[in-house]
Formats: sequence, C-alpha cells, structure tokens
Amino acid sequence: MELAGKKIVLGLTGGIACYKAAELTRALVKAGAAVQVVMTQGALHFITPVTMQALSGQPVFTDQWDGRIANNMAHIDLTRGADAIVIAPCSADFLSKLAHGGADDLLSTLCLARPHGLPLLVAPAMNVEMWENPATRRNVAQLQADGVALLGPAAGDQACGEVGMGRMLEAEQLLGEIIAAFQPKLLAGTRLLLTAGPTVEAIDPVRAVTNFSSGKMGYAVARAAREAGAIVTLISGPSALPTPYGVRRIDVRSAQQMHAAVMAQLAGQHVFVAVAAVADWRVANVSEQKLKKTAGGKPPELQFEQNPDILADVAKRADAPFCVGFAAESDHLLQHGAEKRIRKGVPLLVGNLGHETFGQEDNALVLFDANGHTELPRADKLTLARQLVAQIAARLPRAPQPSAPTAAPTPDASPL
Ligand code: CTP
Repeated sequence: MELAGKKIVLGLTGGIACYKAAELTRALVKAGAAVQVVMTQGALHFITPVTMQALSGQPVFTDQWDGRIANNMAHIDLTRGADAIVIAPCSADFLSKLAHGGADDLLSTLCLARPHGLPLLVAPAMNVEMWENPATRRNVAQLQADGVALLGPAAGDQACGEVGMGRMLEAEQLLGEIIAAFQPKLLAGTRLLLTAGPTVEAIDPVRAVTNFSSGKMGYAVARAAREAGAIVTLISGPSALPTPYGVRRIDVRSAQQMHAAVMAQLAGQHVFVAVAAVADWRVANVSEQKLKKTAGGKPPELQFEQNPDILADVAKRADAPFCVGFAAESDHLLQHGAEKRIRKGVPLLVGNLGHETFGQEDNALVLFDANGHTELPRADKLTLARQLVAQIAARLPRAPQPSAPTAAPTPDASPL
C-alpha cells in the first residue's frame, strides 16, 4: 500500500491511451490511493465516466458547472487536500493549454487554480509528429521550466499505425513514477553506478558456473536511488527482472565483463554500489567445444582462476566515488562484515545472510561503517533499498537536497 492515505486527482484528456488510464486507476486504488477522476469532453469520446467511476469508486467530474459541489467551485474544491494531480493521457492540445495557462474547462481550470506546491505530473500521449512538432517542443520546455513533471512518453508502435515517440507509458510504469514522486529527493543530481545479479562463468559453449543471486536487491537499490533523484546506471549480470523505469542498464555475463563495464562507466560517478554476487573464480580451462562424456565415466577436471575484485579495484582508485559494498555471508555476519569492509577499503558495507536472501522478496541488512554497525530489520527489498539510499545520502560529502515531491529525472525517456 505504497500510496495509502494519498489523494490523487487523475485527469483524462482525449486520446486512445484512455484505456491505460482505466488500468492506472485500478493500480492506484490497489496501492491505497483515493482517486478523483476528472475527464475532458475529448476523453469522453474514448472511455465512459461509468467505467472510471466503477474503477475509482468515486463520482467522476466532467463539467466546470457541475452542481454536485455545494458552492459550485469544482475547480477549487477538487484539488484541495489532494497530494498530486496526474494528467494521463495528456493530449498535445492539453499540454499546450497547460503551458499557456488556459482555463476553458474543468480540468485545465483546476490545474491553473491548483494550490502552490501541489505536484502536477503529466503523461503525454500523442502521434509522433505532434510530439516532435516545434510547438509541442516549446510547450514541453515551458512546462519543465514551470516545474511540471513529465512522465514519458515512450517510443514504439502507435495506435495511428506510425512508429516513434509519443506512446503513453504503461500503467505499471506510471504507478512507479507516481510513487517515485512522493519519495524525498535525497540523491538529486547524484550519479550512481551499481552492479547487480549473478555473474556466469563459462565451462564450455553450453555450460556455466553461477550462483543463486536473482538481482532483486540490486534492482531495488537501482529503483530506490532513481526515485531519490539519482542518475542511475545499472550493470547487471543475467536476470529476468524488468529494468526499473528511468534506469540505464548495461547487460554483462561474466565477472570480467562486469569489471570492464564498471571501469568504462566510472568517470563522473559520485557513488558506486556493488550489489552483484560476483563469481570469485572463473574456469581457467574453458573448452571451445562442448565437453563430451567419456566412456569410463570420468568427469572433466575444471581448473579455476581468480576473478578481478571489482569493488576493491574501484575503491583503491585515487578518484574513487563513495563506495558501498555488499557482503553475502552464510555465518558470523557481524564479524565477517566488519572485516570485509576494512579488507575492501570501503566506507560502507551492507551485510546480509546470502542463503536467506537470494531470490527472496524480503531481507534484513546490517550496515557496517567506521563507527560500528546498524541493523535494518527484515522488510521487503524496496523498503530496505530506500532506507539504504537514505543512509548513503546522509554519508555523502554534500548537503542532502530538499524533499520536494517531483518526478525523478528520466535520462532515457524523452529526446529533450
Ligand atoms: N565483489 C566484487 N568483485 C568480486 C567479488 C566481490 O566487486 N570479484 C563485491 C561484491 O559485489 C560485494 C562485495 O565485493 O559488494 C563482497 O562480495 P562477497 O562475495 O561477499 O565477498 P568476497 O570478496 O568474494 O569475499 P569472500 O568470498 O571471502 O566472502
């Protein structure tokens, strides 16, 4: 229930993506939000207020002169007490109206009359030519300058048959963005690089040695950091998990590839978080052909050589970013964690019991720093990741940023 107690005014404008707004409403309600739907006349051509009322569980407003509000001030009353206004889908026309301060219907009027500081998040949805038109470019730039958060759009197939930028984000992505908007921007402007997942070390063309890491903890840290306003690059071993929205992901397989990718991305990073379960050893005698069973039943003899230690190599550089290590231990966590932090030369090390966390939804962490250790009690991995992000932010040699509830930056979502 990530949005428990939050009141969201959800505005729909005319666009085929209105069907996604139905899904979004469901998702918001499921996340605990109270959703007040407001629709423009254009939106009514695509979806009915009956559908939106059934999904939100609240009467839908479509008319500035709706008599249901006692003082006839729907454009004022609907946003009072709200925590955010979300326009999804936001048409090119409505984007223009917002940029110019138009107020000729209920939705545009309540946006213009919204209380100072009430976040306005818009999810554009339009044809690629409309999105790329200089007039829309100007409107988008103006809205960004006005502090309006743009959620997407994404590129891809469009309902009109064309292909390009302008698709509205999916409901699940929009939900993530709305949740992100409420997270404090503790890492605003910070560039954060992290590794996650397992590494896979080849034995022959079809076999490999790996470990049970799922990537869930690392992906949660990537998401939490991006929610906190960081510009996040995730270097991931093989994982079935979806890339957190707004995070740049680079896929690798082996420890050596991960090492090379980290070194290539290191310049300009402020924080490095090594969550990956990197294989300590790789097979030294990798076979170019598939190994065959022998008649005598003798198994192949694998020789191993040590992989580079990515975290230690980053931490010892003169220009090292703030380094955070993870330690997956099977026993004596307090002792091994404290020792490992010193051995790796990092200011912060996060310990967990590997066999209890790999593949699980929740975890319990112990943070080790020069002053001792702090326990983060068992919780789901995203909750822990957010706590860890706050701990990292508190240790950075820069003052934390204020916690304005605006969308996190999306480096890869728009061509602006
Ligand atoms: N790590 C790394 N490169 C490696 C091995 C580990 O970057 N070749 C990082 C991990 O991502 C983690 C930390 O080092 O942040 C500790 O990993 P762990 O496997 O617990 O420790 P090891 O150094 O392998 O020590 P040991 O196997 O002795 O416990």
